[in-house]
Amino acid sequence: MTEIGDEYGRTFRTLRVSLLSRCNLGCVYCVDGDGSAVPQVQSAAASQDHLDLPALLQIMQRLQGLLQLTTVRLTGGEPLIYPDLIGLIAGIRSMGIGEIKLTTNGVLLKRLAAPMQQAGMRSINVSLDAIDEELFFRMSRRRSVKRIVEGIDAALEAGLDVKINAVIMRGMNDSQIIPLMEFAASRGIAIRFLELMAMGHLHERYHEYLFPRDEILSVIADRYRFSPLGRKSGATAHYWKTDEGLTFGVIANETEPFCRDCDRLRLDSQGNIFGCLSSNHPIRLDPADSEEAWRKNLRQALLQKQALRFVGSDLSMLHIGG
Ligand code: 5AD
Repeated sequence: MTEIGDEYGRTFRTLRVSLLSRCNLGCVYCVDGDGSAVPQVQSAAASQDHLDLPALLQIMQRLQGLLQLTTVRLTGGEPLIYPDLIGLIAGIRSMGIGEIKLTTNGVLLKRLAAPMQQAGMRSINVSLDAIDEELFFRMSRRRSVKRIVEGIDAALEAGLDVKINAVIMRGMNDSQIIPLMEFAASRGIAIRFLELMAMGHLHERYHEYLFPRDEILSVIADRYRFSPLGRKSGATAHYWKTDEGLTFGVIANETEPFCRDCDRLRLDSQGNIFGCLSSNHPIRLDPADSEEAWRKNLRQALLQKQALRFVGSDLSMLHIGG
C-alpha cells in the first residue's frame, strides 16, 4: 500500500473533526456583530447540521484504514453540544486510534468530564481567553467564567489531562496574560497563548488585533523567570517552564509558522475534508466511493497544505474547528 505523502515528507496522522458548526459562545474572532446570532444550546440537539453517529464513525473508520491515525481531536463549533458525544468517543476508541483529544470552551464540561473520561478521552484543551468575567464577556459575549472553571475542576477531578488555550488580542484581553497564568498555576496545569489567526470576518483586519509572540513573552518576563522546553515535531506550540514549575506555551501561527511538519487533516461536520486551515475548498468524502477515490481525495487534500505559512482564510474556526 503506497503511503499518502508530499514532497516535504508530510502525511496525515492527526485527524481533527469539527462535530458541528454551532457554539454556545459568540467569540469576537469567530462571530461578527454582537454575537447574538449564536444559537443557544437548548435548540441545538433538535437541528441536523451534523453527521449522525453511524455516518461519522463510518467515515472515521475508513480514514483510519487509509491513514493509520495516531490522534483524533474533536472540535466544533463546540463539540460538547454534539448529541452522541459519549458514544462517539467510545466508537473511536474501539478503532484503535492511540489518542482521543478534544478542544472545548468548557461551558458544558462539568457534566460531561467524567463520562468522557470513562468512554476513553484522556486529554482536553479548554479555551479560556480571560479569567475576569467582564473581559471574558468582551471576548465571548457571554458570562461563563464561573461555569468554565467548575468544568475545568471537574475534568481534573475525573483524571483528564487539561491544558488551557487563550487567544490574545491587542486591546481586548492582553491584560489577562498574567491572571490566566496565575489561574493555570493554581490548578497546576499548562497554558498556551495563541496569536490571532487571519480567519473569518477578521481575515483582512487581524493585524489590528495581533498580539505577537515576542510581546506575549515580554509581558510574562516582567513577572516570571523561565527557560525553554522546545517543540515536539508536528506540534503547534513552543513551551517554556517558569522557575516556579509552571509550563506555558505560545502558538505563534503568524510570527513563527509551523507548516513544515504539519500532519493534520480536518473533517468538517458535513463530511468534507480540508488539508489545511488556509484552504476554503472542501473536498467531499462520499461513502459510496471506492478506496481509490478516497485516496485521490486525500492526496488532493495534502496538496492544499502550504509550504511555509498560513495565508489566511475566510472560513472561521466555527466551521472548520481549531
Ligand atoms: N485565531 C486564533 N485562534 C482561534 N481560535 C478560534 N478562532 C481563532 C483565530 N482566528 C481558537 C479558539 C480555540 C481554538 C479551537 O481555536 O479560541 O481555542
